[in-house]
Order: sequence, then structure tokens, then C-alpha cells
Amino acid sequence: MTKPLNLGMIGYGFMGRAHTNGYKRVADFFPELEYRPVLKAACARNQEKVQAFADQWGYESTETDWRELLKRDDIDAVDICVPNNLHKEIAIAAAEAGKMILCEKPIAMDTAEGEEMCQAVEKAGVANTVWYNYRRVPAVTLAKNLIDEGKLGRIFHYRANFLQDWTISEDLPQGGAALWRLDAAAAGSGVTGDLLAHCIDTAIWLNGKVDNVTAMTETFIKERVHTETGEKQQVGIDDACAFLCRFSNGSLGLFESTRYARGHKALYTFEINGEHASIKWDLHDLHRLEYFDHRDEGKLRGWRSIHVTDNGGEHPYMDKWWVPGLQIGYEHSFVHHVADFLKSLETGTPCGPTFRDALETQKICDAVLGSAKSGSWEQVG
Ligand SMILES: NC(=O)c1ccc[n+]([C@@H]2O[C@H](COP(=O)([O-])OP(=O)(O)OC[C@H]3O[C@@H](n4cnc5c(N)ncnc54)[C@H](O)[C@@H]3O)[C@@H](O)[C@H]2O)c1
Repeated sequence: MTKPLNLGMIGYGFMGRAHTNGYKRVADFFPELEYRPVLKAACARNQEKVQAFADQWGYESTETDWRELLKRDDIDAVDICVPNNLHKEIAIAAAEAGKMILCEKPIAMDTAEGEEMCQAVEKAGVANTVWYNYRRVPAVTLAKNLIDEGKLGRIFHYRANFLQDWTISEDLPQGGAALWRLDAAAAGSGVTGDLLAHCIDTAIWLNGKVDNVTAMTETFIKERVHTETGEKQQVGIDDACAFLCRFSNGSLGLFESTRYARGHKALYTFEINGEHASIKWDLHDLHRLEYFDHRDEGKLRGWRSIHVTDNGGEHPYMDKWWVPGLQIGYEHSFVHHVADFLKSLETGTPCGPTFRDALETQKICDAVLGSAKSGSWEQVG
């Protein structure tokens, strides 16, 4: 017997599509799950556009005001896929309406907002998760398993980058539909909340708590035309950010993100160096995990490139897909997140990262931005 989970999707952009693909695929590849997503309603401000999205992706109905969506008894869960400045208001209202919430990252504009959101979901007792989807790339999950098994031993270094190059032109405006990421009022911050937040979520999942940070940020293009006013306005986001940190386990962290690294589109990489072994991962080659083990026999010792496609149960999630050697991609991380969320409803075990888990990432982002301003080390939290 399967149970329906009636979904209300808010936003039909990049993430609206990525998540909907996850909801549509999940029952085919995870047939054992008790809950089945039902695409009940899609919501966005423009009726014509949201209807076109609903028709294309198979939503049963549309709404142009998320408040109306939240009033509906036929909606069990809402998925917040809108710019960051809208997360808090929608999430708190959704919790008060008793809806389960799947919210995009970063959880909020800052820690204070995120704390209010956590309190709202905890008070309402509604299931919640934040879409830090990279945790569910099989190679990244495998890295987590290897670390938890102790394969790396004591960890000394954690290094991560997230590099892009799409905002180098001075002519690119800020604000509005596609460019809200350049507008601090909609995004909260620049690469810190948009890109480093992903690196931080993975880092704290793999390597534990961060105690303190020291950071620098830069805004290379100081003024851009705002699409809403047509006027040149000061740019309030960080175009680039680099920070050092200390983890509670004694290891050192080094993080860098920019949208000014010509040639790089979405180069998310991390490397972890432990006492016995090191691992490396690269989003452009997301189905591989590079592994070096010093305990290997000397003449064979070297970096090995693990093609994370074994479906015999050794490689996370891969038993759900094809045959060994055939890889999956970016969109599957969202299918996995949906599957884990549905499973969490069966077991009653929260689906991480919960709002509370994602607040930890927000606290680190705030400490990073605070340190870039103050010029000194900042404690997290
Ligand atoms: N997990 C990831 O890897 C990842 C990737 C991209 C974006 N994101 C996050 O997802 C969220 C959305 O980003 P995106 O790239 O999908 O943006 P997008 O610009 O592609 O889409 C935003 C959507 O929000 C809708 N919207 C704006 N205001 C609204 C309102 N008041 N009511 C209803 N709908 C409204 C727009 O119509 C649009 O459909 C952001 O929080 C972003 O940080 C996460």
C-alpha cells in the first residue's frame, strides 16, 4: 500500500525543475518507498508562466500566491525554490499551516532568520530538510562512509573550491528574474551564501564542526544597473571569498569561491588529507572519487580513481540505477534527496540536513562575512 505525499512547488526556475525531476523519477527507481509524491500544485507570481510550467511538468493545478497554496488542505508538503529573501516568510507560514517543508539553500539571509525558521518547524513538529544536494552524489556519500569507517585516520586538512566565471562582464545588470543572485537584497550575500554554503555543508558533514574563521571578500564590479530601477546601483554582494578555518577535530580548512575564475563554470572540488589516506572529489567528474592510501604496498602505492558505479551495494545509491560501469549525474542527487526524505517519513528519522543542521552552515557563512568586514578571526555561532 502506498501513501500519497501531495506537493506544492513554489518557484519554477532552475531548482523548481531539478526537484520536480526528482519527484517524478523517485517511484520508478525506489519502488519500495511507502510514500509517492503527487505533483498537486505549482506556485509562482505569473499565471501564464506557472501554468506553462505546470503543463510541461505535470502539476495538477496552479497558484499565483504562496499564501493561497498554504491554505489548501490538499497540500501536505511545500518545496521552497525561490530567491533567498523569501525563504523565511514562506517557511514560517508553512510551518504554522502544518506543512512539511523542503527548502532550498542557503536556509536564510542570515543566522537570525534561520533561527526563527528552526524554531517554527520545531514548534510545529513538521518534517523538514534543506537541499544541500551534493551530500547525495554517490561519490560524496562514499567519501563520508570512508571517513566514518576511519580509513583516513586523523584528519589534518580540508580544502574546497567552488569556482565560476559568469559575472565578469561589467554590463551584466543586477536584480530581477535571472540575476537576483547579484542583488544583495534578494540573495543576502554573493558567493558565500550561494557557493561556499555548499562547500561548508559538505565539509561539516564530512569533517565536523568549524570553530572559527578568518576571511577576505572582494566585490570586483562595484556598481551595476539594477533591472528594477534601470539605475546604476552599488553592488552589495561578495564576488569572491576566501577563508581559513579551524575545525573542532584539530584540522585546518581552506576554502575559496569566486565568479571571476575565467574558464571555470561550476568547479566544485574538495580534498581531505588524513594520517593514512587522502580523498579528492571534483563536480566536473562527479562519479569518481580519488583515493590515496599510504598503507598500500609500496610498489603499487598511488592515487586510485574509483568509478563510483558498483551496484552490488558497496557504492551508495548505485544499486538503484544501471549496471556497474554506467554512471549517473547531477540530477540524480535530487532523486536521492527526495528518496531519503520519503524514507524519513516512514522511519521518523529526520532527513539531514534539517533546518537545524543547515543553520550551522549559515552561522559559518555569517562568521566568514563578519571576518571579511572586521579583518579578524571570528568565532562561529
Ligand atoms: N541546491 C542547489 O544546488 C541550488 C542550485 C541553484 C539554486 N539553489 C537555490 O534555489 C533557490 C532558487 O534558485 P533558482 O536557481 O531556482 O532561481 P531561479 O531564478 O531559477 O528561480 C526562482 C523562481 O522563484 C520564483 N519566484 C520569485 N518570487 C516569487 C514569489 N514571490 N512567489 C512565488 N515564486 C516566486 C520565480 O518565478 C522563479 O520561478 C535559491 O534559494 C538558490 O540559492 C540551490
